[in-house]
Amino acid sequence: MSYTSSSPDALPPVQMNDLKRAHPLLQGELKAAAARVIDSGWTILGPEVEAFEQAWAQHAGAAFCVGVASGSDALQLALRALDLGPGDRVLTVANAGGYATHAILAIGAQPVFVDIDADSLLLDRDALRAALVPGVRALVVTHLYGRMAAMPEILALCRAAGVPVIEDAAQAHGAAWEGRPAGSWGDLSCFSFYPTKNLGALGDGGAVCCSDPALATRLRQLRQYGWQPKYRVQLAGGMNSRLDEMQAAFLRVLLPSLEAANTARRRVADRYLAVLADLPGGARPARPARPAAALDVAHLFVLRHPDRDGLRARLLQRGIQTDIHYPVADHLQPGFALRAAQLGQAPLPTAGALPHTERACADILSLPCHPWLEEGEVARVEDALRESWQ
Ligand SMILES: Cc1ncc(COP(=O)(O)O)c(C=O)c1O
Repeated sequence: MSYTSSSPDALPPVQMNDLKRAHPLLQGELKAAAARVIDSGWTILGPEVEAFEQAWAQHAGAAFCVGVASGSDALQLALRALDLGPGDRVLTVANAGGYATHAILAIGAQPVFVDIDADSLLLDRDALRAALVPGVRALVVTHLYGRMAAMPEILALCRAAGVPVIEDAAQAHGAAWEGRPAGSWGDLSCFSFYPTKNLGALGDGGAVCCSDPALATRLRQLRQYGWQPKYRVQLAGGMNSRLDEMQAAFLRVLLPSLEAANTARRRVADRYLAVLADLPGGARPARPARPAAALDVAHLFVLRHPDRDGLRARLLQRGIQTDIHYPVADHLQPGFALRAAQLGQAPLPTAGALPHTERACADILSLPCHPWLEEGEVARVEDALRESWQ
């Protein structure tokens, strides 16, 4: 279907994602992978998982990868691998969808929220420095929207304070900082293979990467009840969280296309950036503090606008779907406060005020940015942005 700017109403909406378009070229290979698993009769933790773990460790620049059931479980298992639990304080940001907070509270530990940088919307270095007080047991740093946080500085601060670092790289498959991949910097790194991620399975999946063999061994035990050997529970905090053979087989098929998909996402993001550069005041995409150092994988394209909800409505009138990643900061989520109260914790603590976090939640907006957008759809978003900006 071709696009004519005079009749946008007649066209189907430009969607945030369209997974039906995701794998048409790979259909045969995906079906063959499914058949291979069915024929093998081996469905959990087998050769497909092992092969994918090796491939993903290499991709993420880590020595080990442990496949687990989801990105959320990856975060929980990483925290448990560090032997954290009730009474432990873990630093994180409050604008990253709540996944780290959920995991921290799930293990009974206490999240402490640190503000973000006003421009990059990633963990703020100075706020982190101030938050690294005695009693802090770990940091979860999220590479949000496909962009890496400034890991050299973050690691230096945390190492000096003796605080281990967990990277949440669920939105940053293939991203890099000064050439070194997301997932290779922290003591542990977590990935989600939820279907809309840059590398997405056909269901849930996740992984934890690390380069310390002792941590890898603990993770392997923890993902399976804390067993060592089978039926002997040796570790506290074990779970059932295993990547299954089917998802691992699909991920092995999809991994070789990741770089091309990331390039396609970046191309879409560059088009939107060029439009925003020409729009009058207020066109302020969230960009990294040092864009030259960071290889962005454009997981989401997030812009900022003082009348975000108005812009959103105007774009929708022109057939452009949008979303907000994320509308409510974690320290203001009632469910997290309830959970903290159940654990007997003080009301959700922040390390100082979080003005940049709260402001971002109010003015961010995500545009459709996925590798399967057609040229005409990108052009429709560009036109709609120009017409709707005000
Ligand atoms: C930054 C981040 N961390 C963690 C997760 C959790 O992953 P999952 O949905 O696989 O549990 C997600 C996405 O869902 C995410 O975007």
